Amino acid sequence: MKKKENKENRDSNLVGKLNSLLASYQVAYFNFRSSHWMIKGENFFELHKVFETAYNDATEKIDEIAERILTLGGTPLLTATEMIKRSNINENGESGKQEKCVADMLHDLKALAVIENQIVKLADEQDDVVTADQMTKYLGEQQKISWMLSQFLNKKSSIN
Ligand SMILES: [Fe+2]
Repeated sequence: MKKKENKENRDSNLVGKLNSLLASYQVAYFNFRSSHWMIKGENFFELHKVFETAYNDATEKIDEIAERILTLGGTPLLTATEMIKRSNINENGESGKQEKCVADMLHDLKALAVIENQIVKLADEQDDVVTADQMTKYLGEQQKISWMLSQFLNKKSSIN
């Protein structure tokens, strides 16, 4: 009986972390979308497309995370108010300056990766290989995008 209670507590903690990730992805989506709209300058076409790919990818992941929460018996956050409150990422309200938009995207990817790493650890503790695998896949993709964005800024990638 005690073991079951522990398991339930840990499950709700995992769902809580997944909701933090969901909320952070929703805010990241707005940031990527505003960069897509506002970006200016010589690399416009390229970066306009980079941010479009990023917000489309965020849309897919937002749906996958919410459905994983439901699969685990939890309830995903449903309102914008809750999302803003629970997000680890702030809204940017982009200036349109290329280096800032790219640096902000790197910052957001890093913040998402921090939560995903925490979820991998929690999921591993509970033998939840599906959630751990989902997060590992996201982390691998973010590492690659982070490397590319860092190349653009001539900096070392901060996600590894
Ligand atoms: Fe567009």
